[in-house]
Amino acid sequence: MHTLVIVVMVMSVMTTQQAIVSETLTIDTIFSYSTSTKPIIAANYTFLGPLIQAYENDPIIVRVIYKLAQPTTIHWHGMFQIGTPNMDGAVGVTQCAISSFSEMTYTSKAQPAGTA
Ligand SMILES: *[C@@H]1O[C@H](CO)[C@@H](O)[C@H](O)[C@H]1NC(C)=O
Repeated sequence: MHTLVIVVMVMSVMTTQQAIVSETLTIDTIFSYSTSTKPIIAANYTFLGPLIQAYENDPIIVRVIYKLAQPTTIHWHGMFQIGTPNMDGAVGVTQCAISSFSEMTYTSKAQPAGTA
């Protein structure tokens, strides 16, 4: 099983306004890279994957459409996951892997500010 790491940039602002950040990631590409012995999994055909931008505390909803053979999870590197530990993407610890040719929707909150 693999775990794919996605980068989320959370901007810090003095506001009470929140907007839901809703994205879709399609994961259907795997390729080799000259300096790596491990295969690279691409989200939306890019590695490190597309940047997801949010303001701090915005709700984040990411629909993952997964089309590779080997089950996987998405780890949101550096995100606190307060109240949503099941969305952290630790395969076999906080969630089961996403099966091949299936989908999962991750929901959490953009915390903390910074590029995670
Ligand atoms: C990823 O690609 C899908 C189309 O397959 C598009 O709708 C979506 O906006 C893209 N996601 C990001 C974060 O760019």
